[in-house]
Amino acid sequence: MSAGGAQGGAATGPAPRSPRPKVTARTIREMKARGERIVSVTAYDYPTARLADEAGVDLILVGDSLGMVVLGYESTIPVTMAEMMHHVRAVVRAEPRALVVADLPFASFQASPADAVRNSARFLKRGAEAVKLEGGRRVLPQVEAILAADIPVLGHLGLTPQSVHAFGGYRVQARGKGEADMLLEDALALERAGVFAIVLEGIPRELGGDVSRALSIPTIGIGAGAECDGQVLVLHDLIGLSFGRPARFVRRYAEVGDTIRSAVASFRDDVRSGRYPSAEETYAAAPDEAPPKAGPEVRAKSSCES
Ligand code: KIV
Repeated sequence: MSAGGAQGGAATGPAPRSPRPKVTARTIREMKARGERIVSVTAYDYPTARLADEAGVDLILVGDSLGMVVLGYESTIPVTMAEMMHHVRAVVRAEPRALVVADLPFASFQASPADAVRNSARFLKRGAEAVKLEGGRRVLPQVEAILAADIPVLGHLGLTPQSVHAFGGYRVQARGKGEADMLLEDALALERAGVFAIVLEGIPRELGGDVSRALSIPTIGIGAGAECDGQVLVLHDLIGLSFGRPARFVRRYAEVGDTIRSAVASFRDDVRSGRYPSAEETYAAAPDEAPPKAGPEVRAKSSCES
């Protein structure tokens, strides 16, 4: 941690927090009736949650995509409740005005409604305000049980990544009429059960529009076309901090990966050439005293020292 960071931040001070009112699941549901488009991104830690919130998003999703995006897994299947809770707590510490939704990972809810309620409650005890789970009518008992425990639920239909093996890869779903009708039935069943919104992922734009028009609750699309009631993107995709070829629906608004690589390369060059640190970046001994031994009072505290 640099002296200008969290420990030595008094010079700049924390950015003023947004005065906007807290977003709740009810706010999100009501946005559709008001014709307001919902803006959502993922966040997995304190700084990205803070920055996304300061940018004014409505909903922060602590998605199980964190397994692939920040933990380096091949899919979301290995993600555990312990990993999710660690990241949920970091996001919650940013005290976002946006609604914080935690994603139930694979095997945390499929086996029984009791599992679904217990694991959803663990998220709420760590400060999440709603949960998301993948699936339609086949997970209706789980959805109903979570809602009966007064925990708001965000549905997720279409290319649900936890079903990657059943789908045979990350393929656009519901391209044919039969599958599209089934997805619409799933969406209507989730709405009847009482979810406050539904994520639609990786489906044809026409179907995204049809489902959005058929529901009174909002749809939040990711690769589901412009007619959804809102859009969500994985933050790391949006800012250019992910690897590999981005999906067709990803729009990159920044190239943060390039910025980081080039900043670290400049640091490398400066260290190797002796340009870093300069005199201004070092401490001087008091004129009439011997140089102090290196100690905690003159060293920037490293992240290893707690
Ligand atoms: O895990 C996740 O980030 C998600 C979004 C992509 C919708 O489910």
